[in-house]
Amino acid sequence: DFNPPEIDLKQYIRSIPDYPKPGILFYDISTLLRNADAWQIATARMAHGVAKWQPDLIAGIESRGFVSASPLASAMGCGMIMIRKPGKLPGKTISINYDLEYGQNCIHIQEDAVKPGQKVVIIDDLLATGGTLQASINLLRKVGAEIVGAAALIELKSLKGREKIDVPLHSVITYE
Ligand code: PRP
Ligand code: MG
Repeated sequence: DFNPPEIDLKQYIRSIPDYPKPGILFYDISTLLRNADAWQIATARMAHGVAKWQPDLIAGIESRGFVSASPLASAMGCGMIMIRKPGKLPGKTISINYDLEYGQNCIHIQEDAVKPGQKVVIIDDLLATGGTLQASINLLRKVGAEIVGAAALIELKSLKGREKIDVPLHSVITYE
């Protein structure tokens, strides 16, 4: 069985206090990635959650989102596109700025990444405040994508990021 329902993926995620800053509890997916069976189950559960949206393309958000998005795209038979930090993509790109707790961030996409009306699901490893994911949704819309859904491996519920996201959202593992 590729995806036994009794397996709790939380046992493979390690939490590290005070990283990257004092007071932040960091959920580390490295320990999940290292376990072949657990990682396969995580990908299967993500695929199960997003299949109903029938995407043409899976978009991954640099950098930990790439790790989650690419096996999913491969498993689902979808193409994959990369949402990247500034200065990383060749050719013409479109960008968007968004606010962080302190300061701003900027992400880019190739302007020809999506054909008009192609259906895209956006993937990240973790949904915290939701700022990164909603900015990615807005960015992909600028290049003509139809965003049919989004998914995160981990959702931190107390930060209420989900309330910011204006497409259907699937999360595989949740913490309060
Ligand atoms: C982390 C995480 C998400 C984002 C979530 O990425 O991987 O992309 O923050 O936060 P938000 O919901 O509050 O926007 P980070 O910027 O640390 O970079 P990385 O993926 O390159 O490690
Ligand atoms: Mg990230």
